[in-house]
Amino acid sequence: MTRVAVITGGTRGIGAEVSKGLHKAGYKVVANYHRNVEGAERFRDETGIPVESWNVADYDACDESVLRIADKYGPVDILINNAGITRDVVLHRMPKEAWHDVIETNLTSCYNMCRTVIPGMRERGFGRIVNIGSINGQAGQVGQCNYAAAKAGMLGFTKALALESAPKGITVNAICPGYVDTEMVQAVPEKVREVIRSRIPVGRFGDPREIAHAVLFLIADDAMFCTGATLAINGGQYMS
Ligand code: CAA
Repeated sequence: MTRVAVITGGTRGIGAEVSKGLHKAGYKVVANYHRNVEGAERFRDETGIPVESWNVADYDACDESVLRIADKYGPVDILINNAGITRDVVLHRMPKEAWHDVIETNLTSCYNMCRTVIPGMRERGFGRIVNIGSINGQAGQVGQCNYAAAKAGMLGFTKALALESAPKGITVNAICPGYVDTEMVQAVPEKVREVIRSRIPVGRFGDPREIAHAVLFLIADDAMFCTGATLAINGGQYMS
């Protein structure tokens, strides 16, 4: 049986490599995107992975999309909550939109997506959920009170849902990537990026495939004993 996996924000950055890694491993992957139609269509054409657009911050859109995907491809057994944005600015200058946008897109999206897939997973007695957090939700970061709060929130969410779901054959885990070489990190001012790079013991930014590799481990059928975990993949930059 081919399991269906939904990857939010699955056409760019870490999400794109997760989509490709799961596709290559034989899963039926559906990659979500929001506004970047041109990029998503290019991704679909290059990889053969179907793409679907909806806003993960919108509960009804998540619900409708999961139903549509289930109708088209089969029930969603695997969910990777990866979609995320940054609106970096120090708190004393942070407008409330920068707070709400990040919390809604990065954290409320976890509720929206999990709430729609979890009843079916419970009925079927199988599910794998991986929430993509961040080193900055563990360690904090200048200019990221919004992002760090959302990513730290995901870790508590992961543990609570893992407890609720363990008796039903569902695992819920989090991965906290460090600074991975994606558009999001490339957008950090060069001067700051160099400071960050100098603090990474392995001496380089991560490769998104290194995160995809860990996702594959966590979603395996025989990975049931690993739940509620937070896996840090950050080149040794932060050890909790
Ligand atoms: N680490 C270390 N020092 C930092 C820093 C950081 N992340 N961010 C800012 N600083 C330092 C700057 O070097 C600067 O120090 P000096 O005055 O000694 O040169 C000082 O803080 C002020 O910085 P700016 O001049 O840039 O001030 P600003 O108000 O124009 O901008 C900022 C502040 C918005 C925080 C901006 O510096 C910035 O965008 N920093 C990057 C923040 C960051 O790391 N974001 C991560 C994005 S990637 C991501 O989030 C993915 C993930 O999960 C890891």
